[in-house]
Amino acid sequence: MTLTFLKFAHRLVLHSNNVLMRLPRRCRVLLLLSMFLLVVLYSNFRKEAISQVKEPPKHAAVRQTEDRRLVQTQIPTKVPSPVLTPPSVNVSSEFRTSIPENGAYWNQLLHARLKRAERGENPLSRDPSWPHCRDNQTNVNDVASYSPLLRNFLWGMKCRSPPFLMDQPDKCKENATFLLFAIKSIPAHFERRQAVRDTWGREYLHDGGLHVRTAFLLGASSPDDPDISALVRFEAERYGDILQADFHDSLLNLTLKMNAFLRWTLERCPRVSFVFSGDDDVIVNTPALLSYLSSLDSSKASRLYTGHVIKTARPLRDPKSKYFIPASFYKGPYPAYVGGGGFVISGALLRPLYSACGAIPFFPIDDVYIGMCFNALGVSPQAHGGFHTFDIRERDRENMCIYKNLILVHRRSPQQVKKIWRGIHSPLLTC
Ligand SMILES: *[C@@H]1O[C@H](CO)[C@@H](O)[C@H](O)[C@H]1NC(C)=O
Ligand SMILES: *[C@@H]1O[C@H](CO)[C@@H](O)[C@H](O)[C@H]1NC(C)=O
Ligand SMILES: *[C@@H]1O[C@H](CO)[C@@H](O)[C@H](O)[C@H]1NC(C)=O
Repeated sequence: MTLTFLKFAHRLVLHSNNVLMRLPRRCRVLLLLSMFLLVVLYSNFRKEAISQVKEPPKHAAVRQTEDRRLVQTQIPTKVPSPVLTPPSVNVSSEFRTSIPENGAYWNQLLHARLKRAERGENPLSRDPSWPHCRDNQTNVNDVASYSPLLRNFLWGMKCRSPPFLMDQPDKCKENATFLLFAIKSIPAHFERRQAVRDTWGREYLHDGGLHVRTAFLLGASSPDDPDISALVRFEAERYGDILQADFHDSLLNLTLKMNAFLRWTLERCPRVSFVFSGDDDVIVNTPALLSYLSSLDSSKASRLYTGHVIKTARPLRDPKSKYFIPASFYKGPYPAYVGGGGFVISGALLRPLYSACGAIPFFPIDDVYIGMCFNALGVSPQAHGGFHTFDIRERDRENMCIYKNLILVHRRSPQQVKKIWRGIHSPLLTC
């Protein structure tokens, strides 16, 4: 960074030579002196910042076996032990009434589950456990018209607790973690993860003694993909921020990923103050997010579910859409939810949230699902104008002053993430 800045200053001097020569001598000296001062100040500032960055942990709990099947059996059953859903889940009456009871498959499943929960039964107790949870006999009359992916979702939707292949048991052990970045990624996204580590997701002791931790959650790659497991293992050892659970990483398994993440966080970071959940192709203005979170009063801080709120969404019925939901599967509106590109929840809500989700069958769209769980809990999403999960206006996209006042923008390439991060931290930025 310092080097780049020096180069930049050098170029500036060269380019402005003509202008300089025209200035009176005393002005020239003064100008050069103040530039030198700026460089010294800036490199000191960088040194300080870098000295606070933690060494990458070398103790990632990664299993060294080649064979995934073998790896699974070696995992102590306790890692991480599923947090049991309390038998009595209090589901808000608002949620009961907002999801109509009708002939659609999911609606029926939900209401049957809620009735069981009402009788004091653990809503999950009748579900077969992993890996005997797939059921391809599920009866939906037009299942033949579903896409292969949706059919796979339907048959696997009772599979809720994948075993972990890679864990980071000590992620939150030392020091109170203020904010955990819980980032959804897939094995092949090495570059995106590195851009996050290099910028907004750097594990750092921020101003005010706020510790930030980062974890990426991956599923397993399919046997049809090139085998990159050795590279992922290396990455996990090098950076200590990779979690991997044994399920097929696909768009319609994001709810499963989210639920596995909740379970892991409850086990490994139960006292975290806030959790950010988001995609690996966003840019987060971490200082702005931290200053917002630390400014909250305690009543708000303990019930936070915030981001870009989507209020009156309904299922998309166009089979060509990525988020297509057939009417035979679900009929009804979606409760208000926060866009899954990036949102923040209070650590204090993790346990109640996980319990509430236990009463609700998996839904193919993860952010809608989390919205349902919060709705069942009786916690409404809080809109925050700084979260832009649908990007910002085209003409603002190169304007660093705009980013400086935002918290999240989706979506950006790894190169753009680095460029914007540098831009908003530049001492030369004047807004
Ligand atoms: C359902 O699973 C069984 C056993 O795994 C298999 O033999 C059968 O072909 C499957 N049916 C469909 C429709 O995929
Ligand atoms: C915990 O905090 C102390 C002091 O702030 C620091 O020296 C130490 O490295 C931190 N440990 C971790 C794992 O971040
Ligand atoms: C989700 O993962 C499970 C476990 O690997 C798999 O059986 C299921 O088919 C996957 N679902 C989708 C929609 O990919």
